Amino acid sequence: MEVRKVGVVGLGAMGAGIAQLCVEAGVDTVGREVSADLGEKAHDRIGHFLTRKVEKGQLEQAARDEAVARLSLTTELDDFADCDLVIEAIVEELEPKRELFAELERICRPDAVLATNTSALSVTEIAGATTTPGRVVGMHFFNPAPLMPLVEIVRAELTEDDPFETAFAFGERIGKTPIRCHDTPGFVVNRVLIPLLNDCIRVLDEARVTPEDLDTGMKNGAGWPMGPCALVDLVGIDVHVHASEALYEKTREQRMAPPPRLVAMRNAGLLGRKSGRGFYVYGD
Ligand code: 3HC
Repeated sequence: MEVRKVGVVGLGAMGAGIAQLCVEAGVDTVGREVSADLGEKAHDRIGHFLTRKVEKGQLEQAARDEAVARLSLTTELDDFADCDLVIEAIVEELEPKRELFAELERICRPDAVLATNTSALSVTEIAGATTTPGRVVGMHFFNPAPLMPLVEIVRAELTEDDPFETAFAFGERIGKTPIRCHDTPGFVVNRVLIPLLNDCIRVLDEARVTPEDLDTGMKNGAGWPMGPCALVDLVGIDVHVHASEALYEKTREQRMAPPPRLVAMRNAGLLGRKSGRGFYVYGD
C-alpha cells in the first residue's frame, strides 16, 4: 500500500524524531500529543533541528518550511481516520499501548497499518488488543531517530505480509535502513545492547573506573561512537531500566536485570540528559 498520510501518537523524543523523518521525506503527518502545549514543544523541537540543517547547508530554507508545514498537530485520535499508517510512540507500558491500539482499530480505516515503536514490549501482546492483529507491526527506531540509520521491522505472530512490507518500504522511504525480524524479547539490537550496557555499568563498580574513563575506554578501545554512560544518559536512565526489567521478565537472564546502581539513579530522578543529570551534568 502507498503511504500518503502518517499519524504519530506521542511526540516525545522518539515520536518527534519519527515525525521529523516523515515530514522531511515529504509525507503529510499528523502528530498527536495529550495537550496542545506538549504538541507545540515537539513542533518547536522539530523546527529547531531542521533550522540547524539549513544553517549547516544540509537543507534549503524552502524545503525546511515545506517540511514544517506538512506537520499538523492534534490532541484527538479521531484525526487519524484518514491515515494509511499510524506509528505509536507513547509511554513504554503495555496497558496504555493496548488501550491505544484498541482505540486506533476503532478509528482508523480497516486497511491502515498500525505500528508500535516499542523497544522491549511484545508486539504480539499489543496487537492482541485488536481484532485485526494482522495489520499490527513493530517499527523500532533508535535514539536519536533522525540520526540513527536503523529501523527494525518486527513481525508479530499474526502480522500479515502486506502490512509488514508496507512498514518495511516506508522505513526505506524515510531514509532509514530497515531490517526484518520476529517478535522476540528485545528484537535484534536491544537483545544485544541492553545486557551489554548493563555489563558496562557493573564494570564501573567492579573495576572502580569512573564513567568518564569507562566511556573513554569504550570509545577508544572498542570504537563506540559514544561511551556507554553517555549513551544511557541519552536513552534515559528510566527508559533503560524499564527496558532491562521488561527483558529480564521475559528471558530470566541475569544480565538483562538492571544494575542496582541504575535503579538507584532512576529512583533519585537522575534520568540523564532529559533531567539535566545522570552520569554527567547537562545544561547551560
Ligand atoms: N533529533 C534531531 N536532530 C538531532 C538530534 C535529535 N535528537 N540530536 C542532534 N541532532 C542534530 C543536531 O542538529 C546536530 O547538529 P548541531 O549540534 O550542529 O545542532 C546534529 O544532529 C549532529 O549532532 P551531533 O554533533 O551530536 O552528532 P554526532 O556526529 O556527534 O553523532 C550520534 C551523534 C548519532 C548520537 C552518535 O554519537 C551516535 O551514533 N551515538 C550512538 C547512539 C546510539 O547508540 N543510539 C542507540 C540507543 S539504543 C536505542 O535507541 C534503543 C531504544 O529502544 C532504547
